[in-house]
Amino acid sequence: MEETNFNIIHFDSIDSTNAYSIQNILSLPHHSVVIADEQTAGRGRMDRPWISDSKSNLYASIVVRPGIEYKKLPLVNFTQLFSVVTAEVIVRYGIQPQIKWPNDILVHGKKVCGILSEVSFSGSRFCGLVVGIGLNVNENAENKINSDYKTTSLQDETEKFIEKQEVLDRILDTYLTYYEGFITEGFPYIYGSYKEFFPFIGEDVSIINSNQNVSGRILDVSQEGELLIKNSYGKTHKITLGDMIWKS
Ligand code: BTN
Repeated sequence: MEETNFNIIHFDSIDSTNAYSIQNILSLPHHSVVIADEQTAGRGRMDRPWISDSKSNLYASIVVRPGIEYKKLPLVNFTQLFSVVTAEVIVRYGIQPQIKWPNDILVHGKKVCGILSEVSFSGSRFCGLVVGIGLNVNENAENKINSDYKTTSLQDETEKFIEKQEVLDRILDTYLTYYEGFITEGFPYIYGSYKEFFPFIGEDVSIINSNQNVSGRILDVSQEGELLIKNSYGKTHKITLGDMIWKS
């Protein structure tokens, strides 16, 4: 059985919990959790900023250094694991979340949580993985100035104050229930749970990433966590990286 104690490191304010974790990775034990009340330079996916000035939200990075050869770890799927874990916790507050592939969490079409994983290598030596979670908890997120998507928070959805610490505790507890199975089996272990939060099969989307722009209809998510899309010529693409945007 996996150990149940996390090494919690708290900051009132920091540039980014992910940046701190990556910079200090060799001195941070496996399952350190770096949290901050606010971030001054929060990092999002695709080099976007993550606005983190509200102390009402959760900013946390989990350090994964399990002492297992990294090639045996499902490194690319950890963000999807945390999207499932966080979605399951959100359900406990009476909210029905959806996962926008690969790992954004939406409620009523608005983003409530983003997840960013970063890997650290020193030459060919694997130093560790950091999974950062930004979850809007009690902020009035409708007024959030954010680039290109609408946002919401748990409080916006429930009209109740939600204890941030309780949310984090539930995320960490739920993560542990998946941990052993996930590191052994990878994405197939969470496939069923992931699909429960992914109701978008049959919808028309575009995928934006640095290598390619693919448009088409969502066929499914594969057993390995890729997005399967059929374009208008009938060709199926397996997408491993990118942002999913609905075609308007
Ligand atoms: C996204 O773009 O959707 C991912 C956002 C991830 C934000 C979290 S907040 C805690 C951790 N520290 C960071 O700088 N980023 C992640």
